[in-house]
Amino acid sequence: MERLPGFRDFYPEPVPSGDALAWSASLRGHIHSTWRRVAQRYGFAEYDGPPLEPLELYKVKSGEEIVQQLYHFVDKGDREVALRPEMTPTLARMVASQARQYKKPLKWFAIPQLFRYERQQKGRLREHFQFNADIVGESDPAADAEVIALLVDTLRAFGFQPADVVVRISSRQAWQEFYRRHTPAELQGPEREYAFYQVIDKWERTSPEETRKKLMELGIGWESVERFLQESVPTQELTAVLENLRARGLSEYVQVDYRVIRGLAYYTGIVFEAFDRQGRFRAIAGGGRYDHLIRLISGGRVDLPALGFGMGDVVLAELIRARGLAPAPPPRVQVFCLVEDESLRAPTLPLVQQLRDAGLAVDHPLGPEKPDKQFKRARDAGARFVVSLARDPDGTIRAQVRDLQTRTSTVCEPDGVLGRIRAALSGAGEAVGSQPGDGP
Ligand code: HAM
Repeated sequence: MERLPGFRDFYPEPVPSGDALAWSASLRGHIHSTWRRVAQRYGFAEYDGPPLEPLELYKVKSGEEIVQQLYHFVDKGDREVALRPEMTPTLARMVASQARQYKKPLKWFAIPQLFRYERQQKGRLREHFQFNADIVGESDPAADAEVIALLVDTLRAFGFQPADVVVRISSRQAWQEFYRRHTPAELQGPEREYAFYQVIDKWERTSPEETRKKLMELGIGWESVERFLQESVPTQELTAVLENLRARGLSEYVQVDYRVIRGLAYYTGIVFEAFDRQGRFRAIAGGGRYDHLIRLISGGRVDLPALGFGMGDVVLAELIRARGLAPAPPPRVQVFCLVEDESLRAPTLPLVQQLRDAGLAVDHPLGPEKPDKQFKRARDAGARFVVSLARDPDGTIRAQVRDLQTRTSTVCEPDGVLGRIRAALSGAGEAVGSQPGDGP
């Protein structure tokens, strides 16, 4: 049975080679825990919603491109439903339905798995995890700066430097004004305006001839757009955001770039995207202000300004690997308890249980196996300690604790094993009875 195209399998390390969609579960864990850690540092609270939503939720205002990419079907109750392609409409729906419950501004984050039926290509799959961080209920540009700072600090937490990544900041409002100024009044209209944004969004990926043709159809001159892009004069709002970021010492990570406009239809103000500096990868993250979405989704009942971003794990992981920033996978266990003699399995089990209860990661062989094979298993699992029980001639059971890191070994009663391991882990010096060099 084959895996569906554009979907990944996450394997434990070492990940099988030769399959581009066999991914590392360990790298995924690193990415998710880093996202969560930085979001919490900024005082964001975690939320989540259902992976399946009413189709209608996305038809309202996500924009045509995403609607075309929906995985949707009619469920057994005759409802038109869709797998979530993005988190923002769910957030807007959740906030709208509980708006009175929470003090504003809300600072919320989520790590949903999203589904888009896209053409599979480098950096784009049919499923991805996306870190979402949004602020609801604050219209001051300080909120835009806070969200962009969180984006930058997330990238920094993975080890990226200003030479590696940049957040390009732009303004939908600036483009809106440009559109109104440069389009003959009789050609203006919301659909044509959105079509214009789509042309700008695809500017870098489309040939100048094709772009010129599309602009002409919209009644806009290519030269005026080109000039506007070159000048990229920051709006008042953008200037406030840049100053805020400068005060935080994050200027090196951002630049004004009006080529960014964002494909999604609901953005209203400042918009931004994060890229690798060399421009060899697709966008790592994208976001912006969407001050009318909550009103739209709540049918006018709740009206709150909002903004945020989404950072996918696909391009991010590609970039982490390309820069050699993936951490070594953590050891699977700390302690391995050998069972060298099957008659000692019964007394080994309470020891395994006791160590696990104490919070240690512990493994042991599940069936009879030669001691050297067990030892190899312990090493492969990354165990620092190998514990084995032995019976003295008088029947007393003793434990040997070998520390593979310090290459020392101690002998104690089974009840003393936990204390020895704790002492070694807290760096409390050599345990009584240790014999340097007595490692395996
Ligand atoms: P988006 O630009 O569609 O924005 O997606 C954000 C990021 O998710 C992209 O920059 C990319 O890293 C990743 N991504 C998107 N589609 C795929 C795909 N098919 N495969 C792999 N990665 C992908 C949004 O989704 C907005 N809802 C973000 C947002 C939150 N805006 C405000 N708050």
